[in-house]
Amino acid sequence: MTDLDGRVALVTGGTRGIGLATVRALAEAGATVVLTGRDEAKAKEAAASVSGSGSVSGLALDVTDAKAVSTVVRGVAKEHGRLDIVVANAGIMEDALLGMIREELVDTTLSTNVAGTIHTVQAAARAMMRKRSGAIVLLASIVGEYGSAGQTVYSASKAAVANIALSAAKELGRSGIRVNAVAPGVIETALTAGLSAEAVAENVGKTPLGRLGTPEDVAKAIRFLVSDEASFITGQILGIDGGLTL
Ligand SMILES: NC(=O)c1ccc[n+]([C@@H]2O[C@H](COP(=O)([O-])OP(=O)(O)OC[C@H]3O[C@@H](n4cnc5c(N)ncnc54)[C@H](OP(=O)(O)O)[C@@H]3O)[C@@H](O)[C@H]2O)c1
Repeated sequence: MTDLDGRVALVTGGTRGIGLATVRALAEAGATVVLTGRDEAKAKEAAASVSGSGSVSGLALDVTDAKAVSTVVRGVAKEHGRLDIVVANAGIMEDALLGMIREELVDTTLSTNVAGTIHTVQAAARAMMRKRSGAIVLLASIVGEYGSAGQTVYSASKAAVANIALSAAKELGRSGIRVNAVAPGVIETALTAGLSAEAVAENVGKTPLGRLGTPEDVAKAIRFLVSDEASFITGQILGIDGGLTL
């Protein structure tokens, strides 16, 4: 079992799905975890839902607000005396064929998935720099590498996220901060709940492991990447897709 005893972690978008599963996985390994979501009551409720959750708390944070991200990250590091792990998980996905893309969709997707990730990495790096150690994981996606019909905006945002991991890993390595990304395939969460039965069957059919992914599949990989087991791993984009992209 991975040992994260004494580590302090922040997971953005931890109110459900992959984020909440990651909070559980990190807390099970002994970390003190702060999760965030846009609504304070929902964030606190999610934190309370983690069993034996004495070490899990919830805060309100919209990652599109750079100042708020900086304040929250600084506050967590100050309150707990350190910040070892940051998972920049908050993200949105809305499908639109090229001819149907509204300017507002471009703005909200890029400000949440791309700018939100940059704000989080920037604030995490500042907080981790003092101790010259830390691990950051970003949420990319297989569509960021391979593209996806009807998902130009979302796919572009996830390609950017993968590149943020590479650039930040190069820049922060000398400060003892590792930055990696995971690239999940189709994972069963609220984000993919709208997929038609045909689309699910098609994806499962193309997946060598013969099923969709679970939030726990992704959470376990994130827990590995932030642990000392991955101490010489940085700048990697780890596919978690059951072989769908093979
Ligand atoms: N599910 C998949 O198949 C899949 C595949 C590849 C990558 N991913 C990526 O994995 C991450 C998590 O996805 P998921 O499937 O778990 O999605 P989800 O169930 O919809 O959860 C998304 C989380 O992000 C938070 N969030 C959204 N906008 C935010 C904002 N502006 N500020 C702060 N928090 C915000 C939500 O919190 P509130 O609504 O409470 O604010 C929620 O906790 C996303 O980055 C997604 O792109 C998912």
